[in-house]
Amino acid sequence: MRTPFVAGNWKMNTTVGEAEELVVNMRDRLDAIEGVDRVLCPPFISLAPLHRILQGSSIRLCAQNMHFETKGAYTGEISPLMLGELCEFVILGHSERRMYFGETDEVVNRKVKAALAGTLTPILCIGEKLEENEAGRTGEVLKRQLTNALEGIEATDESRDSGRGGAAAEDLVVAYEPIWAIGTGKAATGEQAAATIGSVRGVLAGLWGEGTAQRVRILYGGSVTGANIEEFVSHPDIDGALVGGASLKAEDFLAIVGQTAKIR
Ligand code: 13P
Repeated sequence: MRTPFVAGNWKMNTTVGEAEELVVNMRDRLDAIEGVDRVLCPPFISLAPLHRILQGSSIRLCAQNMHFETKGAYTGEISPLMLGELCEFVILGHSERRMYFGETDEVVNRKVKAALAGTLTPILCIGEKLEENEAGRTGEVLKRQLTNALEGIEATDESRDSGRGGAAAEDLVVAYEPIWAIGTGKAATGEQAAATIGSVRGVLAGLWGEGTAQRVRILYGGSVTGANIEEFVSHPDIDGALVGGASLKAEDFLAIVGQTAKIR
Protein backbone atom coordinates (compact mmCIF):
# COMPACT_ATOMS: atom_id res chain seq x y z
CA MET A 1 0.00 0.00 0.00
CA ARG A 2 3.04 2.29 0.38
CA THR A 3 4.80 3.13 -2.89
CA PRO A 4 8.50 2.32 -2.52
CA PHE A 5 10.82 5.31 -2.53
CA VAL A 6 14.47 5.56 -3.52
CA ALA A 7 16.38 8.83 -3.18
CA GLY A 8 19.96 9.58 -4.18
CA ASN A 9 21.72 12.07 -1.92
CA TRP A 10 24.68 13.39 -3.87
CA LYS A 11 25.96 15.36 -0.84
CA MET A 12 28.73 17.87 -1.73
CA ASN A 13 29.60 16.14 -4.99
CA THR A 14 29.17 17.07 -8.67
CA THR A 15 29.74 20.40 -10.39
CA VAL A 16 26.74 21.69 -12.35
CA GLY A 17 28.19 20.18 -15.51
CA GLU A 18 28.71 16.80 -13.86
CA ALA A 19 25.23 16.87 -12.36
CA GLU A 20 23.67 17.55 -15.77
CA GLU A 21 25.69 14.77 -17.35
CA LEU A 22 24.72 12.26 -14.66
CA VAL A 23 21.03 13.07 -14.96
CA VAL A 24 21.00 12.96 -18.74
CA ASN A 25 22.75 9.60 -18.52
CA MET A 26 20.10 8.14 -16.16
CA ARG A 27 16.90 9.96 -17.11
CA ASP A 28 15.37 7.75 -19.78
CA ARG A 29 16.32 4.49 -18.10
CA LEU A 30 14.95 5.67 -14.74
CA ASP A 31 11.75 6.82 -16.41
CA ALA A 32 11.28 3.34 -17.84
CA ILE A 33 11.10 1.78 -14.35
CA GLU A 34 7.62 1.63 -12.86
CA GLY A 35 6.20 1.51 -9.38
CA VAL A 36 8.98 3.28 -7.43
CA ASP A 37 9.19 6.97 -6.49
CA ARG A 38 12.64 8.06 -7.67
CA VAL A 39 14.20 11.21 -6.29
CA LEU A 40 17.54 12.98 -6.79
CA CYS A 41 19.10 15.34 -4.27
CA PRO A 42 21.84 17.34 -6.01
CA PRO A 43 23.66 20.34 -4.53
CA PHE A 44 21.56 23.55 -4.43
CA ILE A 45 23.18 25.15 -7.48
CA SER A 46 22.25 22.20 -9.69
CA LEU A 47 18.55 22.21 -8.76
CA ALA A 48 17.57 24.85 -11.35
CA PRO A 49 19.37 23.29 -14.33
CA LEU A 50 18.15 19.80 -13.40
CA HIS A 51 14.62 21.11 -12.96
CA ARG A 52 14.76 22.23 -16.60
CA ILE A 53 16.30 18.98 -17.84
CA LEU A 54 13.70 16.93 -15.96
CA GLN A 55 10.58 18.64 -17.34
CA GLY A 56 8.23 15.79 -18.23
CA SER A 57 10.31 13.17 -16.39
CA SER A 58 9.10 11.05 -13.48
CA ILE A 59 12.32 11.85 -11.56
CA ARG A 60 11.60 14.21 -8.68
CA LEU A 61 14.01 16.67 -7.10
CA CYS A 62 14.99 17.16 -3.50
CA ALA A 63 17.21 19.70 -1.72
CA GLN A 64 19.75 18.54 0.85
CA ASN A 65 19.00 21.23 3.45
CA MET A 66 17.37 24.64 3.83
CA HIS A 67 16.94 27.52 6.26
CA PHE A 68 13.72 27.80 8.24
CA GLU A 69 13.02 31.43 7.39
CA THR A 70 11.32 32.42 4.15
CA LYS A 71 13.67 35.33 3.40
CA GLY A 72 15.88 37.87 5.10
CA ALA A 73 19.40 38.72 6.17
CA TYR A 74 20.83 35.19 6.36
CA THR A 75 23.90 35.37 4.12
CA GLY A 76 24.56 32.17 2.28
CA GLU A 77 21.27 30.46 3.16
CA ILE A 78 18.50 29.07 0.95
CA SER A 79 14.83 29.28 1.91
CA PRO A 80 11.82 27.02 1.48
CA LEU A 81 10.24 29.69 -0.71
CA MET A 82 13.16 29.51 -3.16
CA LEU A 83 13.17 25.72 -3.16
CA GLY A 84 9.42 25.47 -3.70
CA GLU A 85 9.85 26.54 -7.34
CA LEU A 86 12.42 23.85 -8.03
CA CYS A 87 11.78 20.76 -5.94
CA GLU A 88 9.19 18.78 -3.99
CA PHE A 89 11.34 17.34 -1.22
CA VAL A 90 14.01 18.47 1.22
CA ILE A 91 16.34 16.33 3.34
CA LEU A 92 16.24 17.55 6.94
CA GLY A 93 18.22 16.48 9.97
CA HIS A 94 20.87 14.52 8.09
CA SER A 95 23.51 13.31 10.54
CA GLU A 96 26.18 15.25 8.64
CA ARG A 97 24.22 18.48 9.29
CA ARG A 98 23.87 17.55 12.94
CA MET A 99 27.53 16.56 13.27
CA TYR A 100 29.36 19.24 11.25
CA PHE A 101 26.93 22.17 11.38
CA GLY A 102 25.58 21.85 14.89
CA GLU A 103 21.95 21.24 13.95
CA THR A 104 19.93 20.40 17.01
CA ASP A 105 16.58 18.63 17.26
CA GLU A 106 15.04 22.06 17.82
CA VAL A 107 16.47 23.45 14.58
CA VAL A 108 15.32 20.34 12.73
CA ASN A 109 11.81 20.86 14.15
CA ARG A 110 11.74 24.48 12.92
CA LYS A 111 12.88 23.31 9.49
CA VAL A 112 10.24 20.57 9.29
CA LYS A 113 7.55 23.14 10.09
CA ALA A 114 8.99 25.60 7.54
CA ALA A 115 9.20 22.92 4.84
CA LEU A 116 5.56 21.99 5.29
CA ALA A 117 4.54 25.64 5.35
CA GLY A 118 6.47 26.15 2.13
CA THR A 119 5.00 23.16 0.22
CA LEU A 120 8.06 20.93 0.58
CA THR A 121 7.85 17.37 1.83
CA PRO A 122 10.63 16.58 4.32
CA ILE A 123 12.79 13.49 4.14
CA LEU A 124 13.52 13.46 7.84
CA CYS A 125 16.75 11.68 8.80
CA ILE A 126 17.29 10.02 12.14
CA GLY A 127 20.06 7.70 13.25
CA GLU A 128 22.20 6.65 16.16
CA LYS A 129 25.98 6.84 16.65
CA LEU A 130 28.09 3.71 16.97
CA GLU A 131 28.54 4.15 20.72
CA GLU A 132 24.80 4.65 21.22
CA ASN A 133 24.16 1.51 19.23
CA GLU A 134 26.70 -0.47 21.24
CA ALA A 135 25.20 0.80 24.50
CA GLY A 136 21.77 -0.49 23.44
CA ARG A 137 20.40 3.05 23.22
CA THR A 138 19.25 3.02 19.59
CA GLY A 139 15.52 2.94 20.35
CA GLU A 140 15.75 5.77 22.85
CA VAL A 141 17.84 8.00 20.54
CA LEU A 142 15.56 7.51 17.55
CA LYS A 143 12.46 8.12 19.63
CA ARG A 144 13.93 11.38 20.91
CA GLN A 145 14.98 12.56 17.44
CA LEU A 146 11.61 11.73 15.88
CA THR A 147 9.48 13.10 18.69
CA ASN A 148 11.45 16.35 18.86
CA ALA A 149 11.50 16.82 15.08
CA LEU A 150 7.72 16.45 14.94
CA GLU A 151 6.96 18.44 18.08
CA GLY A 152 3.86 20.58 17.55
CA ILE A 153 3.05 19.02 14.17
CA GLU A 154 -0.21 17.16 13.57
CA ALA A 155 -0.39 14.49 10.88
CA THR A 156 -3.08 16.45 9.07
CA ASP A 157 -1.22 19.80 9.11
CA GLU A 158 -1.12 21.10 5.55
CA SER A 159 0.83 23.84 3.90
CA ARG A 160 -0.47 27.22 5.00
CA ASP A 161 0.68 28.62 1.72
CA SER A 162 -2.50 27.76 -0.17
CA GLY A 163 -2.66 28.33 -3.88
CA ARG A 164 0.69 26.66 -4.54
CA GLY A 165 -0.40 23.21 -3.54
CA GLY A 166 1.24 21.87 -0.47
CA ALA A 167 2.63 19.08 1.58
CA ALA A 168 0.71 17.37 4.35
CA ALA A 169 2.72 16.35 7.38
CA GLU A 170 1.69 12.71 6.95
CA ASP A 171 3.33 12.66 3.50
CA LEU A 172 6.69 13.03 5.22
CA VAL A 173 9.30 10.38 4.53
CA VAL A 174 11.51 9.16 7.37
CA ALA A 175 15.03 7.88 6.67
CA TYR A 176 16.67 5.69 9.29
CA GLU A 177 20.41 6.13 8.77
CA PRO A 178 22.61 4.60 11.46
CA ILE A 179 25.65 6.88 11.53
CA TRP A 180 28.05 3.96 11.76
CA ALA A 181 26.76 2.67 8.42
CA ILE A 182 27.09 5.92 6.44
CA GLY A 183 29.94 5.90 3.97
CA THR A 184 31.65 3.06 5.78
CA GLY A 185 30.73 0.14 3.55
CA LYS A 186 29.35 -1.50 6.70
CA ALA A 187 25.61 -1.50 6.09
CA ALA A 188 23.21 -2.69 8.76
CA THR A 189 21.74 -6.11 8.03
CA GLY A 190 18.25 -6.25 6.60
CA GLU A 191 17.09 -7.86 9.85
CA GLN A 192 18.57 -5.09 12.01
CA ALA A 193 17.18 -2.32 9.82
CA ALA A 194 13.73 -3.90 9.61
CA ALA A 195 13.50 -4.36 13.38
CA THR A 196 14.58 -0.78 14.05
CA ILE A 197 12.27 0.63 11.39
CA GLY A 198 9.41 -1.37 12.92
CA SER A 199 10.04 0.36 16.23
CA VAL A 200 10.27 3.78 14.53
CA ARG A 201 6.86 3.10 13.01
CA GLY A 202 5.66 2.32 16.52
CA VAL A 203 6.88 5.74 17.73
CA LEU A 204 5.05 7.39 14.83
CA ALA A 205 1.90 5.47 15.74
CA GLY A 206 2.19 6.88 19.25
CA LEU A 207 2.43 10.40 17.86
CA TRP A 208 0.01 10.31 14.95
CA GLY A 209 -2.03 7.13 15.33
CA GLU A 210 -1.63 3.68 13.80
CA GLY A 211 -3.42 4.47 10.53
CA THR A 212 -1.13 7.37 9.70
CA ALA A 213 1.97 5.51 10.82
CA GLN A 214 1.08 2.76 8.34
CA ARG A 215 0.99 5.29 5.50
CA VAL A 216 4.36 6.97 6.20
CA ARG A 217 7.30 5.70 4.17
CA ILE A 218 10.36 4.77 6.20
CA LEU A 219 13.63 4.22 4.35
CA TYR A 220 16.95 2.68 5.28
CA GLY A 221 20.19 4.55 4.49
CA GLY A 222 23.86 3.69 5.03
CA SER A 223 26.13 1.97 2.49
CA VAL A 224 23.25 0.83 0.27
CA THR A 225 24.41 -0.57 -3.08
CA GLY A 226 23.02 -2.55 -5.96
CA ALA A 227 24.50 -5.62 -4.28
CA ASN A 228 22.65 -5.27 -0.95
CA ILE A 229 19.41 -3.39 -1.75
CA GLU A 230 17.48 -6.66 -1.98
CA GLU A 231 18.27 -7.40 1.64
CA PHE A 232 16.47 -4.24 2.69
CA VAL A 233 13.49 -3.91 0.38
CA SER A 234 12.55 -7.56 0.72
CA HIS A 235 11.37 -6.62 4.24
CA PRO A 236 7.84 -5.20 3.98
CA ASP A 237 8.55 -2.62 6.70
CA ILE A 238 11.44 -1.02 4.74
CA ASP A 239 9.96 1.19 2.05
CA GLY A 240 13.13 1.97 0.12
CA ALA A 241 16.50 3.63 0.54
CA LEU A 242 18.32 6.91 0.91
CA VAL A 243 21.48 6.27 -1.07
CA GLY A 244 24.70 8.29 -0.84
CA GLY A 245 27.84 7.14 -2.66
CA ALA A 246 26.13 4.63 -4.96
CA SER A 247 23.76 7.30 -6.28
CA LEU A 248 26.69 9.09 -7.94
CA LYS A 249 27.11 6.26 -10.42
CA ALA A 250 24.33 5.91 -12.97
CA GLU A 251 24.58 2.13 -13.26
CA ASP A 252 24.52 1.60 -9.48
CA PHE A 253 21.58 3.91 -8.87
CA LEU A 254 19.64 2.33 -11.76
CA ALA A 255 20.31 -1.11 -10.30
CA ILE A 256 19.02 0.00 -6.88
CA VAL A 257 15.81 1.52 -8.29
CA GLY A 258 15.34 -1.38 -10.70
CA GLN A 259 15.71 -4.05 -8.05
CA THR A 260 13.38 -2.21 -5.71
CA ALA A 261 10.74 -2.19 -8.46
CA LYS A 262 11.22 -5.90 -9.09
CA ILE A 263 11.03 -6.97 -5.45
CA ARG A 264 8.12 -4.74 -4.31
P1 13P B 1 26.20 6.22 1.84
O1 13P B 1 25.18 5.50 0.98
O2 13P B 1 27.33 6.80 1.06
O3 13P B 1 26.62 5.39 3.01
O4 13P B 1 25.44 7.52 2.45
C1 13P B 1 24.21 7.34 3.05
C2 13P B 1 23.64 8.68 3.32
O5 13P B 1 24.09 9.39 4.21
C3 13P B 1 22.51 9.12 2.48
O6 13P B 1 21.93 10.28 2.99
